Amino acid sequence: METTDIISKLVSLLKLDVDAVHAYEQALKKEDLEFLFHQLMECREDHFRHALELKSLILKYGGDVPKLPAEFEGFMIQGFAEFKELTDLDSILNTIKKNEMVTNSTYDNVFEMDLPSEVYELIVRNREEERQHLKFIEYALINRNLSHVKTAA
Ligand SMILES: [Fe+2]
Repeated sequence: METTDIISKLVSLLKLDVDAVHAYEQALKKEDLEFLFHQLMECREDHFRHALELKSLILKYGGDVPKLPAEFEGFMIQGFAEFKELTDLDSILNTIKKNEMVTNSTYDNVFEMDLPSEVYELIVRNREEERQHLKFIEYALINRNLSHVKTAA
Protein backbone atom coordinates (compact mmCIF):
# COMPACT_ATOMS: atom_id res chain seq x y z
CA MET A 1 0.00 0.00 0.00
CA GLU A 2 1.30 3.46 -0.94
CA THR A 3 2.42 5.71 1.92
CA THR A 4 0.04 8.46 0.79
CA ASP A 5 -2.88 5.99 1.00
CA ILE A 6 -1.83 4.94 4.48
CA ILE A 7 -1.59 8.56 5.58
CA SER A 8 -5.01 9.33 4.15
CA LYS A 9 -6.56 6.40 6.08
CA LEU A 10 -4.83 7.46 9.27
CA VAL A 11 -6.11 11.03 8.81
CA SER A 12 -9.68 9.74 8.36
CA LEU A 13 -9.38 7.72 11.55
CA LEU A 14 -7.85 10.67 13.38
CA LYS A 15 -10.81 12.86 12.41
CA LEU A 16 -13.27 10.21 13.59
CA ASP A 17 -11.46 9.81 16.89
CA VAL A 18 -11.36 13.58 17.43
CA ASP A 19 -15.09 13.80 16.66
CA ALA A 20 -15.68 11.05 19.18
CA VAL A 21 -13.66 12.84 21.88
CA HIS A 22 -15.87 15.89 21.46
CA ALA A 23 -19.05 13.84 21.32
CA TYR A 24 -18.18 12.04 24.56
CA GLU A 25 -17.33 15.38 26.16
CA GLN A 26 -20.84 16.54 25.30
CA ALA A 27 -22.30 13.28 26.62
CA LEU A 28 -20.42 13.75 29.90
CA LYS A 29 -22.24 17.05 30.40
CA LYS A 30 -25.69 15.46 30.15
CA GLU A 31 -27.30 14.97 33.54
CA ASP A 32 -29.29 11.94 32.40
CA LEU A 33 -26.06 10.13 31.61
CA GLU A 34 -24.48 10.54 35.04
CA PHE A 35 -25.01 6.83 35.75
CA LEU A 36 -22.64 6.10 32.84
CA PHE A 37 -20.07 8.76 33.74
CA HIS A 38 -17.09 6.44 34.30
CA GLN A 39 -17.69 4.37 31.18
CA LEU A 40 -18.22 7.46 29.07
CA MET A 41 -15.03 8.94 30.49
CA GLU A 42 -13.12 5.76 29.58
CA CYS A 43 -14.43 5.89 26.01
CA ARG A 44 -13.43 9.55 25.80
CA GLU A 45 -9.93 8.71 27.06
CA ASP A 46 -9.58 5.82 24.58
CA HIS A 47 -10.50 8.09 21.67
CA PHE A 48 -8.14 10.78 22.91
CA ARG A 49 -5.28 8.28 23.08
CA HIS A 50 -6.17 6.93 19.61
CA ALA A 51 -6.00 10.49 18.27
CA LEU A 52 -2.55 11.07 19.81
CA GLU A 53 -1.21 7.75 18.51
CA LEU A 54 -2.62 8.33 15.02
CA LYS A 55 -1.23 11.84 14.95
CA SER A 56 2.21 10.56 15.84
CA LEU A 57 2.08 7.89 13.08
CA ILE A 58 0.86 10.43 10.49
CA LEU A 59 3.85 12.65 11.31
CA LYS A 60 6.22 9.68 11.26
CA TYR A 61 5.06 8.81 7.72
CA GLY A 62 5.55 12.42 6.62
CA GLY A 63 1.87 13.35 6.49
CA ASP A 64 0.17 16.58 7.49
CA VAL A 65 -2.02 16.51 10.56
CA PRO A 66 -5.26 18.40 9.92
CA LYS A 67 -6.01 21.37 12.17
CA LEU A 68 -7.87 19.87 15.08
CA PRO A 69 -10.71 21.95 16.48
CA ALA A 70 -10.62 22.74 20.20
CA GLU A 71 -14.39 22.92 20.16
CA PHE A 72 -16.70 20.33 18.79
CA GLU A 73 -17.38 20.87 15.09
CA GLY A 74 -17.75 17.40 13.65
CA PHE A 75 -15.30 16.43 10.92
CA MET A 76 -16.75 13.22 9.64
CA ILE A 77 -19.88 12.04 11.33
CA GLN A 78 -23.19 13.43 10.20
CA GLY A 79 -25.57 14.50 12.91
CA PHE A 80 -22.85 15.48 15.36
CA ALA A 81 -23.82 19.14 15.13
CA GLU A 82 -27.26 18.38 16.54
CA PHE A 83 -25.83 16.21 19.28
CA LYS A 84 -25.29 19.14 21.65
CA GLU A 85 -28.99 19.96 21.48
CA LEU A 86 -30.25 16.47 22.30
CA THR A 87 -31.83 16.07 25.70
CA ASP A 88 -33.58 12.72 25.85
CA LEU A 89 -31.52 9.74 26.92
CA ASP A 90 -32.54 7.38 24.11
CA SER A 91 -31.64 9.90 21.41
CA ILE A 92 -28.29 10.62 23.03
CA LEU A 93 -27.40 6.95 23.41
CA ASN A 94 -28.62 6.12 19.90
CA THR A 95 -26.52 8.92 18.45
CA ILE A 96 -23.45 7.69 20.31
CA LYS A 97 -24.21 4.18 19.06
CA LYS A 98 -24.49 5.40 15.47
CA ASN A 99 -21.18 7.21 15.82
CA GLU A 100 -19.51 4.13 17.27
CA MET A 101 -20.85 2.06 14.37
CA VAL A 102 -19.24 4.44 11.88
CA THR A 103 -15.96 4.37 13.81
CA ASN A 104 -16.06 0.57 14.07
CA SER A 105 -16.71 0.07 10.38
CA THR A 106 -13.94 2.50 9.43
CA TYR A 107 -11.46 0.67 11.67
CA ASP A 108 -12.70 -2.63 10.16
CA ASN A 109 -12.06 -1.31 6.65
CA VAL A 110 -8.55 -0.13 7.47
CA PHE A 111 -7.85 -3.42 9.27
CA GLU A 112 -8.51 -5.30 6.00
CA MET A 113 -5.79 -3.36 4.17
CA ASP A 114 -2.20 -4.28 3.61
CA LEU A 115 -0.48 -2.19 6.28
CA PRO A 116 3.04 -1.88 7.70
CA SER A 117 3.26 -3.83 10.97
CA GLU A 118 3.35 -0.83 13.33
CA VAL A 119 0.24 0.64 11.69
CA TYR A 120 -1.47 -2.75 11.70
CA GLU A 121 -0.72 -3.22 15.43
CA LEU A 122 -2.21 0.15 16.29
CA ILE A 123 -5.31 -0.53 14.19
CA VAL A 124 -5.81 -3.92 15.86
CA ARG A 125 -5.57 -2.39 19.36
CA ASN A 126 -7.84 0.55 18.61
CA ARG A 127 -10.34 -1.59 16.71
CA GLU A 128 -10.67 -3.88 19.72
CA GLU A 129 -11.39 -0.88 21.97
CA GLU A 130 -13.94 0.42 19.48
CA ARG A 131 -15.71 -2.94 19.63
CA GLN A 132 -15.84 -2.62 23.41
CA HIS A 133 -17.32 0.89 23.12
CA LEU A 134 -20.07 -0.38 20.86
CA LYS A 135 -20.83 -3.25 23.25
CA PHE A 136 -20.96 -0.80 26.15
CA ILE A 137 -23.37 1.52 24.34
CA GLU A 138 -25.59 -1.39 23.30
CA TYR A 139 -25.60 -2.61 26.89
CA ALA A 140 -26.41 0.91 28.15
CA LEU A 141 -29.32 1.13 25.73
CA ILE A 142 -30.73 -2.21 26.89
CA ASN A 143 -30.21 -1.27 30.54
CA ARG A 144 -31.86 2.05 29.96
CA ASN A 145 -34.92 0.29 28.57
CA LEU A 146 -34.98 -2.24 31.39
CA SER A 147 -34.81 0.44 34.07
CA HIS A 148 -37.57 2.30 32.22
CA VAL A 149 -39.78 -0.85 32.30
CA LYS A 150 -38.98 -1.35 35.98
CA THR A 151 -39.91 2.24 36.82
CA ALA A 152 -43.14 1.95 34.87
CA ALA A 153 -44.21 -1.29 36.62
FE1 LIG B 1 -15.43 4.46 20.27
